[in-house]
Amino acid sequence: MAVLAWAVVPLGLWLLRAGLCHSQDPADRATFKPQSVLADTEFAMAGTYRGPGNNDTRSNKQLPILLWWSAGLFPHFPGDTERIDCAHSSCLVTRNRKVQLYHRTSAIIFYGTDFRAYEAPLPRLPHQTWALFHEESPMNNYVLSHGPAIRLFNYTATFRRESDYPLTLQWLPTLEYLLTPPAVSLLEKNRWRQAGLAPVLYLQSHCDVPSDRDRYVQELMKYIEVDSYGKCLNNKRLPGRLEDTSTATEEDSQFMSFVARYKFHLALENGLCPDYITEKLWRPMHQGCVPVYRGSPSVADWLPREHSAILIDSFPSPLALAEYLQALDRDDAEYERFLEYKNPGRVTNGRLLEALQSREWGVSDMSKPNYLNGFECFVCNKENQRLTAQRAQRRAPATHTALPPRMADNSHMGCPLPSPGYSGIEDIPDNDSWIQTWPQDYWQSLDQAEGLESLIRHNESDPGLLWHHIQRLTARRTARH
Ligand SMILES: *[C@@H]1O[C@H](CO)[C@@H](O)[C@H](O)[C@H]1NC(C)=O
Ligand SMILES: *[C@@H]1O[C@H](CO)[C@@H](O)[C@H](O)[C@H]1NC(C)=O
Ligand SMILES: *[C@@H]1O[C@H](CO)[C@@H](O)[C@H](O)[C@H]1NC(C)=O
Ligand SMILES: *[C@@H]1O[C@H](CO)[C@@H](O)[C@H](O)[C@H]1NC(C)=O
Repeated sequence: MAVLAWAVVPLGLWLLRAGLCHSQDPADRATFKPQSVLADTEFAMAGTYRGPGNNDTRSNKQLPILLWWSAGLFPHFPGDTERIDCAHSSCLVTRNRKVQLYHRTSAIIFYGTDFRAYEAPLPRLPHQTWALFHEESPMNNYVLSHGPAIRLFNYTATFRRESDYPLTLQWLPTLEYLLTPPAVSLLEKNRWRQAGLAPVLYLQSHCDVPSDRDRYVQELMKYIEVDSYGKCLNNKRLPGRLEDTSTATEEDSQFMSFVARYKFHLALENGLCPDYITEKLWRPMHQGCVPVYRGSPSVADWLPREHSAILIDSFPSPLALAEYLQALDRDDAEYERFLEYKNPGRVTNGRLLEALQSREWGVSDMSKPNYLNGFECFVCNKENQRLTAQRAQRRAPATHTALPPRMADNSHMGCPLPSPGYSGIEDIPDNDSWIQTWPQDYWQSLDQAEGLESLIRHNESDPGLLWHHIQRLTARRTARH
């Protein structure tokens, strides 16, 4: 087998490049699509740092290898291989797939959006763990929302709080970001209302998404005025120079002060999943506008205080929501209550404060690692612990036990079947583009998850056999019915 040939590749030739000043390749950045709040300069810090608890004196040759299967996300530059000295121990990390079956390769790291069952590294070796990094929308890969797929991973970094390395607040840079700048005064907001601005802003250019948000907003628009500037449900043009830059204006100060005049911002995520919360929620709060939110069903757990966002799902209908927004539009004192969190000391949610305080990664914070490097080190330390325990157990089985196996489950992703943004599924015509896309995508993803699990159970080496396994499973299911 090819494993033997690869085993003699002289890994010692890989040079230690610690100490080099790193900068990120723009091509890599394009693949990663870092959030806009993540400063470019932060990538300059992507190099190694040695944690205070790391007295790992092993040479590169002796370190376990972590293989980035999603090469485009490899968080080091330049080169394909790097030594990382983490808080407690060290590893070699590489994106060179030649080491896939190498005995020293102890973990394989995947980026969720790129993860494809038909490209999985097979055969799956019993000594290797799989690690999943997925901070993006559930819509990018519903395969991971199915039990048979997520259970293949031993470590996860996802937006869910139940993940091993949770990224729930990835879009909230700091507490300060919520508190500043101050909101546009109500006096001024009311003047803009009189000058013709609608009470509600919608700004969306990604229209065909699993959450089917446009169907809801379209219904809402029947009952309350909404200014919609994006491609979806567009009914208004941005003024002056903002029009030309409408795709790249998110952090433009002129654009920010324009949208900050609105009382309410519609803030609907593209996919619905517990703890999938993006800038859609935090940006309006930063700007001092009240988000009218649909996304994570448990979002209230993370809000700065009670009464700081309006949750679409707590209203029985778009009409009821519209009536509530109209009443708030007329009631200044009641509206102001929603902006109370902007005042000093008024963020009362202990869970939010604690999570911001204790997370080890930073967003635009040079003094902390970014979460990609942070997760890489999390895996490195876990793998070193596991290998140490294994060695101790091999040497003295009577006195040492190996660490118990660990694997992820649906609480690490587990996003639900997409459902219509408004109305029952039976009311939607067959030729509707949402119904032709997302429910199917979800169920086909389940086939792929089961197919991959079957490939691994049968110790297949060729991921191309995925379709064959899916056919077999489908035939068996049909025969049973
Ligand atoms: C590092 O040092 C501590 C305390 O001196 C020791 O307990 C630990 O085993 C050392 N770790 C390694 C990887 O050598
Ligand atoms: C990793 O996950 C796999 C598949 O779910 C499992 O069989 C294996 O025991 C796990 N490995 C470790 C070290 O926990
Ligand atoms: C769907 O079908 C209806 C009538 O059968 C038609 O009026 C409508 O234009 C069609 N919509 C699309 C998106 O093709
Ligand atoms: C799985 O397949 C690999 C390579 O094809 C082989 O070396 C290994 O022994 C197989 N493992 C089992 C448990 O059959």
